[in-house]
Amino acid sequence: MKVAVIGSGYVGLVTGACFTLKKHEVVLVDVVKEKVDKINKGILPIYEPGLDEIVKEALEEKLLKATTDYKEALENADMVFIAVPTPSKEDGSLDVKYIEQVASQIAETLEGLKPRKLLLVMKSTVLPGTTENIFKEIIINKVSEEWKGKLSFAMNPEFLREGIAVEDFLNPDRVVIGIEDDYGKDLLSKLYLDFVNEDKILITPIKVAELIKYASNAFLAMKISFANEIGNLSKSLGIDVYQVMDGVGMDKRIGRAFLNAGLGFGGSCFPKDVSALLNFGRGLGHKMLLLDATLQINKEQPKKLVDLALKRYGSLKDKEIVVLGLAFKPNTDDIRESKAIELIKLLLDEGIKAVHTYDPAAMENAKKYLSNNKIKYHATLENALSSAEIVFIATEWQEFKNEDLYEGKEVFDGRRVIEGKKAKYYEGICW
Ligand code: UDX
Repeated sequence: MKVAVIGSGYVGLVTGACFTLKKHEVVLVDVVKEKVDKINKGILPIYEPGLDEIVKEALEEKLLKATTDYKEALENADMVFIAVPTPSKEDGSLDVKYIEQVASQIAETLEGLKPRKLLLVMKSTVLPGTTENIFKEIIINKVSEEWKGKLSFAMNPEFLREGIAVEDFLNPDRVVIGIEDDYGKDLLSKLYLDFVNEDKILITPIKVAELIKYASNAFLAMKISFANEIGNLSKSLGIDVYQVMDGVGMDKRIGRAFLNAGLGFGGSCFPKDVSALLNFGRGLGHKMLLLDATLQINKEQPKKLVDLALKRYGSLKDKEIVVLGLAFKPNTDDIRESKAIELIKLLLDEGIKAVHTYDPAAMENAKKYLSNNKIKYHATLENALSSAEIVFIATEWQEFKNEDLYEGKEVFDGRRVIEGKKAKYYEGICW
């Protein structure tokens, strides 16, 4: 099939590229010409394991191209996926400005094309009602009567984790397809049956699909905050919460995944999606207590690690401190809502003399965001570690897991990276 994908970020680029694995022809649209030109040369704006090879092969087979031109993307498309950002507003509510812009742009483009059956699929994470009452509404109100009768709308949320997005696309637990008519159901089922068995495809109304995405992320975030709440309790009892969660997770109704206590959740999804759902629910008169607590617990975790050091040293004023890790999780360069960044800010608030930091992938991004002259970005892990005795571990990069690195160090571990066998002093945030 011929597929257009509007937005070539983490979701659009991975999704579009993976469609070409089954010989579908994909046109990616992005507003940033530089990004478009680079993709067409096989130079990707993001790093995802396996994506490079997929894009290169797709370009060679002429199955993939990027463009800034909506007409070029839509004129032959069987379906159009919308995968643009849906960021948070200051108050944590959802900002749909890009969805609205894309809807207008699609409507204007369609006016220049001969009306034909066309499926428009929302893939961006949007609150229940957005696809039909905002995205569809804008388009239907702008296009001709003839187009009105030809357009179908659907919603197909993504469940991709950064750093493993290709794997998650190719091995999904489920493909959720929210539809309003059989046209959307038949076309999307046909597309995804190239990738999964029928038993993994869940057909729902559009609003259900929108809420499945938010409820899934909110539940995963809640699991993490639950692990941290039990972790904080365990810490005060001298109990290892990882052993507790190993036992809890053996219950197949619960599952061990996403019960790792630590600094809490960051990234471009969980904080944003939980806040958006919380605000949305409150706007409808619901207290949303569980989501509120999930965010509260998450907010307080980094300070717990700083408090351990304050308890040991009395004060951190004028101390030099190593912070290992800047990315919000390993195997990505992404620092959005990173707990490591929050931790560094808290340490600076304590009047420390310097933070010596290292991250295998995220330093360039962090430098744009953290320019305090007390922060020393080191080119190697060894250089950072040799700069001070007190070490905070904030991201669980594989290369941080060597116990020998911490010989003679005083370590405060936020991510269960080591056991502290060689450290002069070791303490974990919740263990
Ligand atoms: C998440 C969802 O997993 C994915 O399904 C959705 O499509 C997008 O949002 P992502 O944000 O890329 O993916 O990362 P994820 O691996 O889920 O981790 C999110 C955050 O939770 C990270 O900061 C991670 O450190 C933290 N985390 C994860 C924990 O603190 N404990 C855990 O047990 C698991």
